Amino acid sequence: MPGFELFGELERKEVQKVLDSGVLMRYGFDGMRNGQWKARELENALANRMQTRYAQLVSSGTAALTVAMASAGVGAGDEVILPTFTFVASFESVLALGAVPVLANIDDTLTLDPESVRQAITPRTKVIMPVHMCGSLADLGALTEIAKEHNLLLVEDACQAIGGSYAGKPLGSIGDLGCFSFDYVKTITCGEGGALITNNEAYYQNADHFSDHGHDHVGNDRGAETHPFLGYNYRISELNAAVGVAQIGRLDAFLEIQEKNYRTLEHAIQDIPGVSLRRIPDSGVQNYSFLNFFMPTEAKAREAHKSLLAGGVDGCFYWYDNNWHYHRKWDHLKDQISLGKLPHEVRDQLGRMKQQDFSLSDHWMGRTISVLIKIGWTEEEVIDRAGRLQSILRDI
Ligand SMILES: Cc1ncc(COP(=O)(O)O)c(C=O)c1O
Repeated sequence: MPGFELFGELERKEVQKVLDSGVLMRYGFDGMRNGQWKARELENALANRMQTRYAQLVSSGTAALTVAMASAGVGAGDEVILPTFTFVASFESVLALGAVPVLANIDDTLTLDPESVRQAITPRTKVIMPVHMCGSLADLGALTEIAKEHNLLLVEDACQAIGGSYAGKPLGSIGDLGCFSFDYVKTITCGEGGALITNNEAYYQNADHFSDHGHDHVGNDRGAETHPFLGYNYRISELNAAVGVAQIGRLDAFLEIQEKNYRTLEHAIQDIPGVSLRRIPDSGVQNYSFLNFFMPTEAKAREAHKSLLAGGVDGCFYWYDNNWHYHRKWDHLKDQISLGKLPHEVRDQLGRMKQQDFSLSDHWMGRTISVLIKIGWTEEEVIDRAGRLQSILRDI
């Protein structure tokens, strides 16, 4: 997920415009800023590219998830269903609101298994949060159905899959709200940053206010603005937004290179006996940021991971053992280890997680290897990598 790989002159130009204006904050200082409104510019470009009515930039992808759910009224004790395979940001964003993360199994898409989602629903469930991990997507058709049936919100975490699509629609635009991260290692980056998109005007207005201390943004005197409700500070700076303005203009070019490199690696491994590719839901299109495949057994996956690294194929991940992306190492969540006291709703409702059976997830994750796709590789480097992948996996 390498926006930083092709970082250069275009980004410098946009940042320079902000530095020249002298206004680093996205709100206010109208007279001083020489017409530079980089956060607004990026919001417009993002909404346009994602075919939604609204986009709200914030300080990170984690903030985007928090603000998205807050904007739709998620609060203390509400349950949010999310997958066992995701980044810790998913449950952090839920806990930040006093809400309760509920884990559901993944299937061979490496994202939420619709049947496990059904089983996880309780009278307190408010949100289903599919996380489109490693460049591909959840079965949004099935999850949309479940959300409608139970009157739940669908909040897409598309932080790792910007540019992918489902049934012709950009990922992030299908749920009630969708979230992106523009941190340093995502397909496009602001350095740090994130955004939510939605077609719901009320959610957008709430997000706009909530992410800036509750400011209603009426008029041009910040001190005189009113605060219709409590908020917080999740603002992005103009400097970060400026980098994103340059990067979003390059998104489709990045995706094209990503897919080309992905296809070369995919071609090299697809016929190797025992190796099978992750399932992409019907009418889904990945953003091709990772090549994800299953080995026939956990032991073979471990061996493949070791051999690939030893064989000079860097950027390979065995998530099953990873501290940050898979439930097995989330003891701090399961044991509720926090600096301060957690809300009683979280303490009461989170306890059952330790007894839950995630063997279905382990079945898939224990056998999964993900190979990062970079866009800075030369053609020779991609061909060399494909050859190494093929010969190493064939020997296992
Ligand atoms: C799936 C997913 N969700 C959320 C985030 C959080 O994004 P950020 O680092 O911008 O807070 C990440 C970041 O790695 C992620 O991978």
